Amino acid sequence: MPGLPAAAALTAETRLADWRLSDWRGRALVVGCGGIGRALLTLLAERCPHLERVGASRHPAAMAGVTMLSVDLERDVSLQHLAEELSAGPPLRLVIHTAGLLHDGDLKPEKRLAQVRRAHLERSFAVNAFAPLLLAKVIEPLLPRQEPFHFASLSARVGSIGDNRLGGWYAYRAAKAAQNQLLRTLALEWQRRLPLGCVSLLHPGTTATGLSAPFQANVPQQRLFSPERAAAQLLDVLERRSAQESGGFWAWDGEPIPW
Ligand SMILES: NC(=O)c1ccc[n+]([C@@H]2O[C@H](COP(=O)([O-])OP(=O)(O)OC[C@H]3O[C@@H](n4cnc5c(N)ncnc54)[C@H](OP(=O)(O)O)[C@@H]3O)[C@@H](O)[C@H]2O)c1
Repeated sequence: MPGLPAAAALTAETRLADWRLSDWRGRALVVGCGGIGRALLTLLAERCPHLERVGASRHPAAMAGVTMLSVDLERDVSLQHLAEELSAGPPLRLVIHTAGLLHDGDLKPEKRLAQVRRAHLERSFAVNAFAPLLLAKVIEPLLPRQEPFHFASLSARVGSIGDNRLGGWYAYRAAKAAQNQLLRTLALEWQRRLPLGCVSLLHPGTTATGLSAPFQANVPQQRLFSPERAAAQLLDVLERRSAQESGGFWAWDGEPIPW
């Protein structure tokens, strides 16, 4: 990108224009091709027309104009394979991790202590907490050194410890809180090593996808976003962030969420 400072002098003090996503060239990677992930991949064609789009999850269905790769975030060898498949292309300017796990078979959000199970805690942490950090580790060599980039991951307001007034959902809440701490720590490391990166934790709001389907009954219609609306709001939030704000936890409307 013209006008950026020489590598030796790189700092987070980029111009706002350097963060205009519609101008970015390189690749966008969306990990987790569920409701919100697919809506983001669709919208990126319009909002970031110069970025090549890549999607990755365990069972990615084909999408026109998108390179789809397979990854199981619970397996290191699969993450390594994903990084190898990505290594041949241009730098990853925009990485959005949207994979998440709230329920699967007999894994359900706990209503009380008696329902807590070790295996469910471990699985929830594997997907909701460890996966985005381990993804960051394998793709780090593919991030640009001399251009700004975003590394965003979907968290959830229920992961806020300060905002926890209802209780329940032990595994999901705690795994999202752990993700927040892991990526906040990553943001601090990258501020030193990759100062043109902006790491963000994003709450999409309650969105009509498979993940929220069993819990939508009591959500007022105006508070339940379509995946398309959620995707647009998340890109709006990212559009307003730069490296100076790396490590933040933001809601869909751009408001910060307490840790
Ligand atoms: N929807 C909401 O109301 C809401 C609210 C707050 C936060 N969030 C967060 O937003 C994110 C996106 O949620 P969503 O609503 O789009 O859910 P979703 O439709 O269930 O999509 C999540 C996707 O994650 C992928 N995934 C799960 N485990 C994986 C694994 N081991 N390896 C690779 N991919 C895996 C799955 O795709 P494959 O089956 O193809 O692997 C799944 O489609 C999640 O982090 C969620 O916690 C959602």
